[in-house]
Amino acid sequence: MVFKLPAFRRVRGMRDFLPKEAQMMKYIEGKARKTAQLYGYGEIITPVLESYELLAAKAGEEIRSRMYAFEDLGGRKVALRPEFTASVARLVATTLRNEPKPLRMFSVGSLYRYDEPQQGRFREFWQSNYELMGSSKPEADAETIILTNRLMKAVGLKNFVFRVGHVGVLRGILGQEKVQDKVQNGIMQLMDKRRFDDALRLVEEAGVSEKGLMTIQKLVEIKGGKIFEVLQSMEKQVKDHERAFHSVRNLEEILKLVSEDGQKIHMTVEAGFARGLEYYTGMIFEIHVPEMSISLCGGGRYDRLIEMFGGEPTPAVGVAHGLDRIMMAMQKQKTLLKTEEGKTVMVIPIEEELKGEALKISWILRNADIAVEVEVMGRKMTKALEDADRRKMHYAVIVGDRELKEEAVVVRNLRRREQKTVKIEKIVEEIRG
Ligand code: HAM
Repeated sequence: MVFKLPAFRRVRGMRDFLPKEAQMMKYIEGKARKTAQLYGYGEIITPVLESYELLAAKAGEEIRSRMYAFEDLGGRKVALRPEFTASVARLVATTLRNEPKPLRMFSVGSLYRYDEPQQGRFREFWQSNYELMGSSKPEADAETIILTNRLMKAVGLKNFVFRVGHVGVLRGILGQEKVQDKVQNGIMQLMDKRRFDDALRLVEEAGVSEKGLMTIQKLVEIKGGKIFEVLQSMEKQVKDHERAFHSVRNLEEILKLVSEDGQKIHMTVEAGFARGLEYYTGMIFEIHVPEMSISLCGGGRYDRLIEMFGGEPTPAVGVAHGLDRIMMAMQKQKTLLKTEEGKTVMVIPIEEELKGEALKISWILRNADIAVEVEVMGRKMTKALEDADRRKMHYAVIVGDRELKEEAVVVRNLRRREQKTVKIEKIVEEIRG
């Protein structure tokens, strides 16, 4: 008797991808990889497990508190990566320390956050991630936006908007007002969650001057799609705050370049826009679609992380695209996958003794890059044909003694329901059409 275990369920927040979904995921991954290649980003593969300290350093409270962290058997505190950026920064601070800049690096893979599972929020999810290290110029920032736009178009999304901001605007004012970094982080976290009233209360409690508070209050209301008008209003608001003023100017330069790219990119600028990660120092952005309330992608400039990890001071900017959410948006916007459907063939021996011959024929077809399934259930020909039909295969190759004597097989076109005897040396030609 077999000892039976209880039926296992998936761990909460984890998912299985069946062939159709896996195909879509791989399709998006393929487009991301192609985009990386078109922009000169070399692919790197970093470990799923990293030291907790590295990942926690500047992740921001939101992500830090949701890490899958544990002690390994050697007593090291480790965690499953919640993002790629820390790993890439570690590499640039160590192994790639002396590499000439700029360095463009691409990664794709799974990440882990103990988020509350809901629409578009999973505990295991996928990103394509691009980091551009070594340039502080606006053209580097612009590149991350432009390549993201290309990827969104390449997967077939029609309706998406970039939400753009600059952390230097609010942090510039708060810094000038001598608000400590830790308090600033708390304020930015609340801003990220759009809890503006709570954020403003914290600003007030931090002892910011009346004028500073008023400026921030006004700033959080400045936003819109006429981006250069919005930038002008921001500039007016912060004219007495030097760092904030430079930040607005920097954003203006970046978005001017993006607009000059020749692509019509739909953008909105928000002065009070913040993102959960603490390492950002400059321009930040996300992508949104009208069908969903969560972001598809997120990125921005982080000029101090590599130095913090012991590397040379290295300006950097990057972006990560959430593949699961892109997939959801594609389904909602009814995007068609532009895949080339190859011919599929089932090879059926009509007698037990011809199994070996069926394998030989399959070998010939696969050598010609044709996908073949060999009958393995020992079914009668009619049953196997019914199955091939049900699974919408294109051809069946029926291997029988009589035809083999003539060095031939029967090729049945399952779509047209026609069949003919074909010499083995001609089957590839016959099936390719
Ligand atoms: P992030 O905004 O935390 O940024 O994540 C980027 C994208 O990953 C999100 O826009 C979303 O599509 C996807 N994502 C995040 N959490 C989940 C989840 N629980 N379930 C499904 N999808 C999720 C970063 O990760 C930064 N490292 C981006 C970056 C790269 N900044 C500079 N370089």
